[in-house]
Amino acid sequence: MFEKSMKIRKEKRITQKELAKISEVSLKTINRYENGIKISFSSEKKILENLNINFENLHTENIEKNKISFNKQAEEYEESKYINQKNSVIQLINKGYPYTGKRVLDLGAGTGFISREIAKLAKEIYALDISKAMINQIENLNKNNKLKNIIPVRGDAHNLEFDENFFDTVITRLTLHHLKDIDLVLKEIKKVLKNFGELIIVDIITSEKEEEADLQNNFNKIRDFSHNKFFNLNELKKKLKEINFCNLDIEIWKEDRIFEEWIKLSKYKDEDNVLFNIMKHFAINGIKLGLDLKYEDSKLSFKQKMVLIKVINIK
Ligand SMILES: C[S@@+](CC[C@H](N)C(=O)[O-])C[C@H]1O[C@@H](n2cnc3c(N)ncnc32)[C@H](O)[C@@H]1O
Repeated sequence: MFEKSMKIRKEKRITQKELAKISEVSLKTINRYENGIKISFSSEKKILENLNINFENLHTENIEKNKISFNKQAEEYEESKYINQKNSVIQLINKGYPYTGKRVLDLGAGTGFISREIAKLAKEIYALDISKAMINQIENLNKNNKLKNIIPVRGDAHNLEFDENFFDTVITRLTLHHLKDIDLVLKEIKKVLKNFGELIIVDIITSEKEEEADLQNNFNKIRDFSHNKFFNLNELKKKLKEINFCNLDIEIWKEDRIFEEWIKLSKYKDEDNVLFNIMKHFAINGIKLGLDLKYEDSKLSFKQKMVLIKVINIK
């Protein structure tokens, strides 16, 4: 998008300095943007709007993709062994003890699998998700479980409509890689989280090798078009440190995945086994893609690298 923006600016014979003035974005930021360096969501919005480039489509495209993908997944979501495994949920929840009296945000809550566990311990938990079908599932499951301290909220992680310093803890599992602008989301989290509040993240991470990471990202995007980007551990650490999340506490492990189960969860139809055959081809040629990709007894399997990060918000 930065290339298109620069092209249009030049076509319109607007200098960077003029654009800075009309868009109220600093010249330095415009310069960074046009050099392909990531800038904040709100600065990009101002630049594109002032060049009459439809910004809404850009952002809403990612939101729409997530809504479509997760509205489809909602009903059978918790049937997946990958999603409903108690061990990793307990591991996540353990990081936030004690919960007594705490107000917690579950960001990208899905069906509320984690919210329901935390509801047993905390004062209240806000389960926020962009997908209506996911929010419906949370409401139905709340009724079944007679849980009164889970508050389902339909909303966008890029624009958290809560008061500043509202939460003691923010948890987010398997959601960051779906988001269009993780830097903006981290800023939003920082805003609604109290000073010394904690952020607990569980997500998939990629290989540190760029080529392997690219392939991992691309295979995942084919399987689920709502994926934006998996980060490697160093990228994530850098982003957190940059905005003063401190005391990084990190655990890493590998999750066994079977191709069929991995595909089934996202409801992707691998017509003519195209994705299967590409990945199988890598596996039988001994290219493990940083995933221990394996093809044995007609089964394609791999190990997904996972991270749990706990950080403290310092304002
Ligand atoms: C893979 S699911 C994880 C659900 C849950 N955290 C879990 O671990 O079971 C990702 C969730 O993020 C939600 N999501 C995606 N983009 C979002 C956004 N911009 N704002 C809020 N939620 C979003 C999706 O609707 C989906 O429910």
